[in-house]
Amino acid sequence: MSATTSTSTPGDPRSAIQAAFSRAITAILGDEFAEADPLIRNTTNPDHGDFQCNAAMGLAKRIGRKPRDLAEDLLQAVDLGDLADPPEIAGPGFINIRLRTDTIAAAVQQMDAPALGVIPSDDPRPIVVDLCGVNVAKQMHVGHLRSTIIGDALARVLERRGRAVVRENHLGDWGLPIAMVLHRLREAGTDLDALTLTELDVAYREAQASARDDAAGLRAANERHAGPHRIAELEAQQSGAEQARSAAADTLVALQQGDDELVRDWNRLIDVTMQAVYDALDLLNVQMGPENNRGESFYRDHLQPVIDHFEKNKLCRTDDGALVVDFEDRERPLLIRKRDGGFLYATSDLAAIHHRTQETGADRCIYVVDARQKDHFRDVFDAARIAQWDRTNDGHEVQLVHVPFGSILGPDKKPLKTRSGTNLTLASLLSEAVERGTREVAARAESPSAPTHGLDDAGIAAIGRAVGIGAVKYADLSSDLVRDYVFDMDRMIAFEGDTGPYLQYAHARICTLLEKAGDLDPAAPIRLEDNQERQLALVLLRYPGVVADVAASLEPHRLCGYLHELADTFSGFYQACPVLKAEDEIRQSRLRLCDLTRRVLEDGLGLLGIEAPPRM
Ligand code: ARG
Repeated sequence: MSATTSTSTPGDPRSAIQAAFSRAITAILGDEFAEADPLIRNTTNPDHGDFQCNAAMGLAKRIGRKPRDLAEDLLQAVDLGDLADPPEIAGPGFINIRLRTDTIAAAVQQMDAPALGVIPSDDPRPIVVDLCGVNVAKQMHVGHLRSTIIGDALARVLERRGRAVVRENHLGDWGLPIAMVLHRLREAGTDLDALTLTELDVAYREAQASARDDAAGLRAANERHAGPHRIAELEAQQSGAEQARSAAADTLVALQQGDDELVRDWNRLIDVTMQAVYDALDLLNVQMGPENNRGESFYRDHLQPVIDHFEKNKLCRTDDGALVVDFEDRERPLLIRKRDGGFLYATSDLAAIHHRTQETGADRCIYVVDARQKDHFRDVFDAARIAQWDRTNDGHEVQLVHVPFGSILGPDKKPLKTRSGTNLTLASLLSEAVERGTREVAARAESPSAPTHGLDDAGIAAIGRAVGIGAVKYADLSSDLVRDYVFDMDRMIAFEGDTGPYLQYAHARICTLLEKAGDLDPAAPIRLEDNQERQLALVLLRYPGVVADVAASLEPHRLCGYLHELADTFSGFYQACPVLKAEDEIRQSRLRLCDLTRRVLEDGLGLLGIEAPPRM
């Protein structure tokens, strides 16, 4: 995905300077240079101003002129209005720009409103975010955790920008695997009313195993003339597996035809699975319930129409009895109907795209799914384009995006496991996080000077939960999504470093400070006399641009990086500039900067789905 999507935010002086230099470049060099990057960078030395424009060197080379001469021309052509002092040339052709302090202060004052400068989009079309995607009859695992955390953060960012977002939980709740487990439970005479998710998970695996035979093993045993005992064993396994498969196929047909009892049992399996999922979502502070469930079963009657569409428009061909869609640029086709007439995961996804783009009218469908499904989504998206479902009914182009993410690894760099070696369940991971968070918070509350000192157990537990869950979420969102990362609770929960608790703590400290001050005047003029005040103001002003950038790039780590920089810049400011002890006007101006920083931290953490407790 393009990471360079330009985002213009009127309140941000940097964007304004960028735009002014772009105009100057086209004025001098013509429209074919409209796309040239003006290369506006922060200066490393504040004595040289706030920003520099580094474009003259590269552009001069392209047109065969002296960089300094071109820089002179740019200075003549650029109109910075009252944004900056007259810029100056340095070295071979750098242009140094110093913002006017009153302009920055005015911009900060303008940003200091409930929206924090984020401009809502007026696009009424909904965006679909496909997240969570758990499978019925199985435990939710850490991959679904990542999908939920990342998907929810992206949905929040898009909503913050004023877009309507439809969160869809594409449950794996239909098809042969479900029929297999239903059949298995029935055979065993299991009382479904008393069924737990753990038992269900075991039954699922047993059902899978019983339908698996070892045809290759049997062939090899015959060829190698293995002992009659071994061959008999493999033959028994073979016929058992055949039986299990055909019984499951019958069960599926009965379920598809709406057999009352089977449908009731099937609903029970969904209830058992989803109860645990809702508990986890609740703990994660993700607002999703049954109304967000739109699983494979929802599309069951849409599958044949998908096939009809492809067949009628000659977009597929038969291949050895199966139906496949070919792609121009690669050999391997996409299977959309099996030889035995069965539909596939891909068929459901095609039906979902049809529904989302043609019925819901979404112009952006975002799939937050494990990176291992990359080829699946490439194929399904290409097939949807072939079917012309990449346009809404009113002719709007649809963006279909897979946001892939990597695995969570254990300390041994292998996929995270419990001590007993089974795949770690989500519930155990989250309860560990909450427990660790609570321990941290309780330990700090022991100190008589801590703002949490004297809180009752429920108060400590609420903050502990926010810290523990915040730590897990931040770790999940703060690095490049496709990278695998090691789950290291000690590092994630630390109050220092690139962690969620560090940001929560920075926020809570400002809350305490403001409470102590007690007299914030929201109309006091903002004055930026100290360099640290100016730096803080410049970072604050970037917030709306960062939100826009995450909405475009779908990379939450950019917001994490920004919030971290803001917290660091704030602590530099706070060390250099006394707040409570400053004399009146300065004190009021600094209190406003503190308050604005606090609100940006709270808002930004909120977009990541992380709570910002006022005391820690
Ligand atoms: N149930 C799938 C899995 O666990 C994830 C579903 C993702 N969404 C989709 N539209 N395919 O692998």
